[in-house]
Amino acid sequence: MQKYSNLQIWLHWIVFILILGQFVFHEPISEAFELRLEGQEVVPSALIGLHLVFGGVVFLLIVTRLWVRMGQGVPSYPKENAALMELASKIVHWSFYGVLLLLPISGGFAWFQLSEGAGNAHEILKTALLLLLFLHVGASLFHYFVLKSNLFKRMWW
Ligand code: HEM
Ligand code: HEM
Repeated sequence: MQKYSNLQIWLHWIVFILILGQFVFHEPISEAFELRLEGQEVVPSALIGLHLVFGGVVFLLIVTRLWVRMGQGVPSYPKENAALMELASKIVHWSFYGVLLLLPISGGFAWFQLSEGAGNAHEILKTALLLLLFLHVGASLFHYFVLKSNLFKRMWW
């Protein structure tokens, strides 16, 4: 079976962990943002800083992923899979890249320009990311349990 390169696999799972962190520790920045919109002072905290830093790092890693992808390509799609499944996976993968570039940009605008509109866009994008993740993990489980294929190994060491 053809696999993604080790570098691509590391990048995939590091981004996954950072995103997990963004969801688990979002509370302090959400509260601080609300307070700032109401014109109140916010005491800086480590978790607020971490959201900004992790988000920025995700942006850089996604750009790196796209760059590596252009250079190394991706393993060819398993032949036994239907064309429709290939198309669905391509749509989900490219949507991931788009959403993961726009999330940090909208977050940055929301925070640094104090823009409520960008904050709303950030929340919509967050929901889109969750939806994509649901489809993506669902597809992995479908491949493993229903189609009994080891597709998962393509993105594992
Ligand atoms: C991949 C990167 C990112 C992810 C997955 C992410 C995720 C999240 C999540 C889940 C929330 C909570 C939204 C809610 O309350 O429903 C949030 C809020 C927020 N994030 Fe991010 N974030 C990312 C990057 C960034 C960056 C880079 C910045 C700023 C430089 C930022 C600024 C904010 C702000 C200001 C809020 C509060 C506004 C709001 O609740 O809509 N985020 N983020
Ligand atoms: C925030 C979390 C995640 C994001 C943003 C994400 C994103 C992506 C993207 C963009 C690709 C396509 C890579 C490319 O061709 O350039 C990919 C591939 C893959 N991901 Fe994820 N992923 C996440 C979590 C997961 C999880 C939890 C699993 C395991 C259940 C998983 C399993 C895979 C597998 C197996 C592939 C390879 C698909 C193939 O062989 O065509 N991912 N992921």
